[in-house]
Amino acid sequence: MAFGRGKVILLGEHGVVYGHPALAAGIERGVHATATEASTALLSIPVWDIEVAPSSDPAESLGRAFGALLNVYDSPPCLAVRAEVALPAGAGLGCSAALGVAILGAMDEALGVERSAEERAEVSLAWERVFHGNPSGVDSAMASAGGVAVFHKGKPLDHILPRNALTLVIANTGDSASTKTMVDSVGRQHERNPERVDGVFDAIAAVVRNGALAVGAGDWKALGQLMDLNQGLLASLLLSTEKLEDLCHLAREAGALGAKLTGSGGGGCMIALAAERTSAETVLHAIEGIAEEAFIAEVGT
Ligand code: MEV
Repeated sequence: MAFGRGKVILLGEHGVVYGHPALAAGIERGVHATATEASTALLSIPVWDIEVAPSSDPAESLGRAFGALLNVYDSPPCLAVRAEVALPAGAGLGCSAALGVAILGAMDEALGVERSAEERAEVSLAWERVFHGNPSGVDSAMASAGGVAVFHKGKPLDHILPRNALTLVIANTGDSASTKTMVDSVGRQHERNPERVDGVFDAIAAVVRNGALAVGAGDWKALGQLMDLNQGLLASLLLSTEKLEDLCHLAREAGALGAKLTGSGGGGCMIALAAERTSAETVLHAIEGIAEEAFIAEVGT
């Protein structure tokens, strides 16, 4: 059985697409996959009631992505792959990258192919590119390696060992967003006004560098303040929504040290940092009324 983790971006989404750093963490929820020999290749995802064969039809994204993963082998194998998904899709928690990593891992297991976590992340990008066009690779890297790390496009992950686990409240707005659409929207803003958008990315990069130091030192108050700053910068790129703002506001009022959207924005999830478990439960209680789903995640242990 192979596993691809979900992830949260603590700081730095979008800038990371342009070569700036991001600070991210793997979460315990994700995708489990198994592969067995079969007469034809087939991917099934029971929770979505989906069964697809590899395809080259542009309208069949899942079939094309599956085909892209089969094509990483010298001769595409005939395997029936079953993926159990325990993450919401289009919610900023890296569901598609987790799927790609888990499916590749399951096929590697069935075929006796060995790869490092870094290689698996890199190769699984063939899947991710079908959905996102130009992914930075942060989701796949975290889906494969987990932990807490600074990611830089094209470079190995720089892992950080936090002094204690980070306690996060993760809340789904219930509004799904396409990463590609949101990345394209930032791309258009960048084309129109490169100086302004590069300035925002530079500020986000500074927030990430300070955030990495805060995680290393276990300074959750500083990390929370940096998350709030990052949220303001993301909102200036039109990536936040009323519901995300409401969730951040309620979380802060209930004692969260900081709160922001995570992933592409435009919907999806909010993350709030809590000082410890009891405080996370208070935050969870405060946002439960408006979040579609919310849970506490301990990351970095
Ligand atoms: C998506 O989880 C994060 C983005 O920065 C896109 C990417 O890094 O590919 C919005």
